[in-house]
Amino acid sequence: MGSQESAAPIARTAPDADFAADVLDGLSGAQKRIPSKYLYDARGSELFERICDQPEYYPTRTELGILQSEGAAIAEAVGPRALVLEYGSGSGVKTRLLLDALDAPVAYMPVEISYSALAASVAELAADFPDIEMRALCADFTQPLTLPAPQRAADRVLVFFPGSTLGNFATEDAVDLLAVMRADMGADGLALVGVDLQKDPAEIEAAYNDAAGVTAAFTLNLLTRINRELGADFDLDGFVHEARYNPEAGRIETRIRSRRAQRVTVAGQRFDFAEGEGILVEYSCKYTQTGFAEMAQRAGLRVHSSWTDPDGRFALQLLCSEDVTSA
Ligand code: AVI
Repeated sequence: MGSQESAAPIARTAPDADFAADVLDGLSGAQKRIPSKYLYDARGSELFERICDQPEYYPTRTELGILQSEGAAIAEAVGPRALVLEYGSGSGVKTRLLLDALDAPVAYMPVEISYSALAASVAELAADFPDIEMRALCADFTQPLTLPAPQRAADRVLVFFPGSTLGNFATEDAVDLLAVMRADMGADGLALVGVDLQKDPAEIEAAYNDAAGVTAAFTLNLLTRINRELGADFDLDGFVHEARYNPEAGRIETRIRSRRAQRVTVAGQRFDFAEGEGILVEYSCKYTQTGFAEMAQRAGLRVHSSWTDPDGRFALQLLCSEDVTSA
């Protein structure tokens, strides 16, 4: 779909993040770490799509099931003529299910830093939803936005943030993002946020260690990207993927671990790895219902409604401003 033109011009408001500076800085600390957003180059995005189809990776199909079974209830809670603001470029089945379920949404605005992902997303959706105005925003959704006015007035803004991507943010950053969400949706707006729930750690760990090795390939692709884009010399056979559940913190912690003591050069700078030393590359936080509600409250938000699958694996949380008495 990449060759299609999008329905509306795309406003470019943010430059690409500084990959080199973040990698060099992240490898220089006592605890080596690289932000998880850098896992998503073209190959990483492709591998993530494949992860979603792995039998062990339950979040995607569970969230889809909730959207399917609870679409009417979600539509009723949201009301008619919503402006849907999606964090990330949702061209996929979740966005379609939501737009199909809602009552006459007036506009759809995905917010995404990758221009190409955004263009493909709106082009695909514009063809299938001709009555919904498509306005793509090329921007960093972790920063507050100035929303362009839609052609037809919207009754309210609905922020849509599925996939438990919120779980990839450390708690303080997640609270900050929820506060941005509150600002973006306005006093009478809503946010529909997908979150993965705490459950048997074995089931969670299996989801991040699929037997086909797709998640391992996804994680290690970061080293391939650094080699290619930053002129580094990571030996791909010298590192392994490790995803472990930390029960105290309630999160999967994914690291790239060095198999041996070795030295790597990145953009002309040398970094030493001890045998077994890891680079922290991702958190995937898992929440309890009360833990999530407390976190939302810290951002001035309240859980208006919560829909889960029958086994309580995953939740779609509908959030409103804390001071709104009826939404
Ligand atoms: C995008 N995000 C919510 C995924 C997750 O479950 O944390 C990314 C992922 N990493 C490994 N598997 C999936």
